[in-house]
Amino acid sequence: MTSRRLGVLVSGRGSNLQALIDAVRGGRLEAEIAIVVSNRPAAYALERARAHGIEAVALDHRQYASRDDYDRELARLLGSRGVGLVCLAGFMRLVGQPLLDAFPDAIVNVHPSLLPAFPGIDAQRQALDWGVKVSGVTVHLVNRELDAGPIVLQRTVAVEPGDTPESLAERILIEEHRAYPEAVGLLLGGRWRIEGRRFVSW
Ligand code: GAR
Repeated sequence: MTSRRLGVLVSGRGSNLQALIDAVRGGRLEAEIAIVVSNRPAAYALERARAHGIEAVALDHRQYASRDDYDRELARLLGSRGVGLVCLAGFMRLVGQPLLDAFPDAIVNVHPSLLPAFPGIDAQRQALDWGVKVSGVTVHLVNRELDAGPIVLQRTVAVEPGDTPESLAERILIEEHRAYPEAVGLLLGGRWRIEGRRFVSW
């Protein structure tokens, strides 16, 4: 990892962005958030960033002719800010090849299930519908398949009788806020490699 400068991509409320900001400010994560980019101009996450003096940019995907055009612009913007690690924090878009090529093994995502179970949207509802007794959080590197890259870190969360998607999401989110800064710190520490599809750290 060459740079401890983070680029955080968001689409919504940005509570995981807040967890990263808090970890940096609290000295638990040795990094700098260089820029926050949202594909949705109205995302509350942009306000959170600005409130902390972090550059916040709305890059509306609807203004671009193709996914590749959009991802090329994202890659250019992140590169221009010296970003070394791209953190997806509730970024609800598939990452395309131009961005993957610009940041090889340097894009990380947090997902609210124990992958490979329940990828995609509504992971908490999928888990409840399936009837699992344990779900959790996965932090993983991003590759070309949806929610399928090497797993950096996982934390379990028990499913309680009477859970709704909302109540389960709330408890999973608490674990996300702990796990994500920890995993980002691990990645920035550089003591890891990819073996096959496994993330190995030491
Ligand atoms: C989080 O629960 C995150 O894990 C999930 O969206 C939420 C974003 O919340 N991401 C995905 O489902 C990605 N597949 P936030 O905007 O408050 O961080």
